[in-house]
Amino acid sequence: MKRARNTSSPVLERLEFEWDDSAEIPTDTAKILEDADQVLQAYWDQWTKKPIEQYVACDFRDVYRALSQLTASKLAKGNTFCEWGCGFGIVTGLASQLGWEAIGIEAESFLVDQANRFLARNRLKGEILHGNFLPRGSERLAGSQSNHASLFHQVENAYEQHDLEFDDYALVFAYPWPGEHYFLQEVFRNYAGDGALMLMFLGPYEIELFRKSVS
Ligand SMILES: C[S@@+](CC[C@H](N)C(=O)[O-])C[C@H]1O[C@@H](n2cnc3c(N)ncnc32)[C@H](O)[C@@H]1O
Repeated sequence: MKRARNTSSPVLERLEFEWDDSAEIPTDTAKILEDADQVLQAYWDQWTKKPIEQYVACDFRDVYRALSQLTASKLAKGNTFCEWGCGFGIVTGLASQLGWEAIGIEAESFLVDQANRFLARNRLKGEILHGNFLPRGSERLAGSQSNHASLFHQVENAYEQHDLEFDDYALVFAYPWPGEHYFLQEVFRNYAGDGALMLMFLGPYEIELFRKSVS
C-alpha cells in the first residue's frame, strides 16, 4: 500500500563512524571475497568486449569491515538493506551474510545476471532487482546538474516493479560516480524513511555514514 511521504524538514546528518581497516575478515567471508576477486579479474580481462562505463568496484574488504561494524553497532532501525547500483552483487551478498534482508538494484542486465550467479555460487540470500534505484520523481533533485551518471538509465523503477517502498529500507549502501555523491545524498534525504542510514563508499579508506531524520 502506498504511504504518504513525510516531507517535513528532513535532515541528513553525517555520523561519527570509525571503522577498523585492519579488522580480521572471517574465513568464510574471505572465501567469498576470493570469489569476488576472481569475478572482477575475469571481468577486467574481457573489459574491451563488455564495457560497462559506469561500473567501478568499491573496496569490498573495507566495505565488509565497515558494514560488519555497523551491523554490530545496532545503529540501524531495522534489518532491511538496499544497495543502489549493486554491480556484481558483492556488497549485497556480504550484507545478507551479515544477516541483513538485502536487495541490490542494478540497471545493467549483464551485471544483474552476474550478481545472481555470484549469490547462487556462494549460497548467499540477497535478492538482485533489475531496475532503476532512483525513487520516482527524485531526478528533479539534480537540478541543473543533469549529467549525473545515475540519471542515464532507461530502465523501469525497481521499487514499483516489485511493489516495494524505498522508505522501508533501514540501510542503503551506495558507491556514487565521482561528483554525484551530493545528488544521491539529496535523494536519500528526501525519500528515505525517518532514521534510515546511508553508508557511502567515496574512495579508498573513505567510507561515510549518514542518518536521515525528520524533525
Ligand atoms: C560505481 S558502480 C558501484 C558498484 C557497486 N555498488 C560497488 O560498490 O562495487 C555504480 C553502479 O551503479 C549502477 N547504476 C548507476 N545508476 C543507476 C540507476 N539509476 N539505477 C540502477 N543502477 C544504477 C551502474 O550500472 C554501476 O553498476
